[in-house]
Amino acid sequence: MNRQDAAHALQEQDGNAEEGREFHYTARDFSRVVRLIRERAGIRLNASKEQMVYSRLVRRVRSLGEASFQSYLDRLEAQPDSPEWQLFINALTTNLTEFFREAHHFDLLRVHLQQHAGAGRYRIWCAASSTGEEPYSLAMTVLEGLQGNTFDVEIIASDLDTHVLAVASAAIYPLERLDKLSSERKRAFFLRGKGERAGFARLKSEVREMVDFRQINLQHEHWPLEGRFDAIFCRNVMIYFDQAAQRRILLRIAALLKPHGLLCVGHSESLHFMGDVFRPCGRTAYVPSEAFMQKAAS
Ligand SMILES: C[S@@+](CC[C@H](N)C(=O)[O-])C[C@H]1O[C@@H](n2cnc3c(N)ncnc32)[C@H](O)[C@@H]1O
Repeated sequence: MNRQDAAHALQEQDGNAEEGREFHYTARDFSRVVRLIRERAGIRLNASKEQMVYSRLVRRVRSLGEASFQSYLDRLEAQPDSPEWQLFINALTTNLTEFFREAHHFDLLRVHLQQHAGAGRYRIWCAASSTGEEPYSLAMTVLEGLQGNTFDVEIIASDLDTHVLAVASAAIYPLERLDKLSSERKRAFFLRGKGERAGFARLKSEVREMVDFRQINLQHEHWPLEGRFDAIFCRNVMIYFDQAAQRRILLRIAALLKPHGLLCVGHSESLHFMGDVFRPCGRTAYVPSEAFMQKAAS
């Protein structure tokens, strides 16, 4: 890291470094970003995120050689189809995840799989898959649950952010990311890097090949998905959306589930406001309600 990069890094760490800011950034610029990311991705940013927005977008402003946040945002808004929009979105998403996060859902899936696999293809959609730890944990759960049986299982994983999708497809992780995994899982599912790849591990091809990654914006009218699912994991993404958007998305998810289909959401995403559509079946886990299924069938 050269001295200038180090200065930038320090500046980004310091949430109150207004005076040391490299680019002019006003409350108006922040409000514009809030509006634009909401329109494009449904993501709500509250007032406490003002410094975070600066830190996340400053690289984009710098690398385009813009003089200020205002000129960067002018450029963006002047070109609604510019590829810069994707980089703007990628910079503003929060991608925190880990292998077997909220592990109780994977236990539930194992049981669900045993109950329903074998009756045709068992299909899973992981709807905000970030850097891949979640869908690969689903794939590992499936491999462990099938114990050599050859049931037909399909896993589709999607995210809005193209950068995390690329990381997920590569399936290479720093060894620290595997710290909480048992040594059996590490041995069974990962290959340790050597030479240039020392300090990293890659998922074995049998796990990688089980997951089909694609870009899906949950706020878009069209989701490139066909058929119904046995299980949908849509975890820790709806917290970024307002309740009207959550309801719209959850109704579409309900319609994509088979009657016994399992929906898992994040730990702070209780669906109490969706009682007409989903019935709880475990901690932050749901199945479509009978009333919803009857209505959908009529
Ligand atoms: C906090 S991560 C959650 C990752 C994973 N589901 C988990 O629980 O560990 C949220 C993910 O949602 C994605 N996301 C945000 N807005 C989205 C949208 N409108 N459509 C699809 N994915 C979105 C982000 O890119 C990010 O990877």
